[in-house]
Amino acid sequence: MIASPGRRPWFLTGRAFVALWIPIALVTAAHYLTGERLHWLHDIWRRLYYLPIILGAFSFGLRGALWAAVVIAALYAPHAFTTFATIDPAHGIEKTLEMILYVVVGGVTGALVDRERRARERAERIAADLQAAVDQMRLMEQEVIRAGRLSAMGELTAGLAHEIRNPLGALKGTAQILGDEIAAASPRRGMFDLHLATIDRLEAILERFLSFARPRPLDLAPVDLQEILAEVAGLVGASAGNLGVDVDLRAGPCLPVRGDREKLAQAVLNLVLNATHAVAGNSDRLPDGDRGRVALVAMPTTRSAREFGVIEVSDNGPGVPLDLRERIFNPFFSTRPDGTGLGLSITARIVEEHAGIIEVDDAPGGGARFRILLPLRAGEG
Ligand SMILES: Nc1ncnc2c1ncn2[C@@H]1O[C@H](COP(=O)(O)OP(=O)(O)O)[C@@H](O)[C@H]1O
Ligand SMILES: [Mg+2]
Repeated sequence: MIASPGRRPWFLTGRAFVALWIPIALVTAAHYLTGERLHWLHDIWRRLYYLPIILGAFSFGLRGALWAAVVIAALYAPHAFTTFATIDPAHGIEKTLEMILYVVVGGVTGALVDRERRARERAERIAADLQAAVDQMRLMEQEVIRAGRLSAMGELTAGLAHEIRNPLGALKGTAQILGDEIAAASPRRGMFDLHLATIDRLEAILERFLSFARPRPLDLAPVDLQEILAEVAGLVGASAGNLGVDVDLRAGPCLPVRGDREKLAQAVLNLVLNATHAVAGNSDRLPDGDRGRVALVAMPTTRSAREFGVIEVSDNGPGVPLDLRERIFNPFFSTRPDGTGLGLSITARIVEEHAGIIEVDDAPGGGARFRILLPLRAGEG
């Protein structure tokens, strides 16, 4: 049925008075005040009653039309069949028929309007469902494109890394043998150490590429997000301090999730390293006496009626420009001269594997703020 506007019942709304009660009162008054000899006027008044009945149907559906018809019949009956005031001079049969017709017309138009309204509501619901499905598909399409790009890149790098790994191993082995012949006091010793250190660095980069291309499966266990934050803060605190960056871990409640501890730590570590690089590389931008700062905090939140634990990594660096916010999650996208562009894509994949969400926006007061949302374990504080 049709809902009435506001909290008043439908028959007391302004619309009911304008469409039903005032027209009915006016026509009824006209009936009672018209003399018996003006029977043509009585014929007009009788037919004018259809107006509020039809208006009632369009405004309030079947209920409005039928109530209008019943009220009209009740008001008209004394005038039709008694000499209470004046009497409608028309034939008795005609007047009876007219009253039956009031109810019939009210019933038919009311039912038609109701049916039309139901059909329209159904069509609107279907349209809304369709729109939601289209939105969902668009999101999935983007996801598929990204995943496709990731797996193609992954295969390429895995192949390349494998090809490089063996020659690199040979280089390292032979270099070590040759190194035995260089005396510790020799001026060439420094050159040799640099040689070995560079090979080690290449190996480390290779490992990262390989672990990106061939991620190991998740090893799920109960984990507290606060412990992960503490672990990461402990890991980077000293080296960040050397770069003039303070890592500030804020206290928060225990946040139990089911996850892969090592991978989650890796995901957060990537964010913290990025934030450290961002502020360290831009420390000249900071006001005098202000140091680079990376803040780490975890707290609970609710999204779409689901409970999540949020890990927030924010910094007071230059922030991420709006037009880059999609691309920074792509593998190999980097704006740093010595960046690999893998950190954020690895982090995004780990978050995805945990059915979580990763977002980036501006930190209050400038800088970047990355957020990882992970589903909390139900029933645990
Ligand atoms: N905290 C941050 N502030 C500003 N820019 C950032 C931040 N974190 C990431 N970025 C941007 O995202 C890019 C990609 O990051 P990432 O995938 O970790 O690769 P890399 O660190 O090797 O460049 C960075 O090169 C940088 O442009
Ligand atoms: Mg990085």
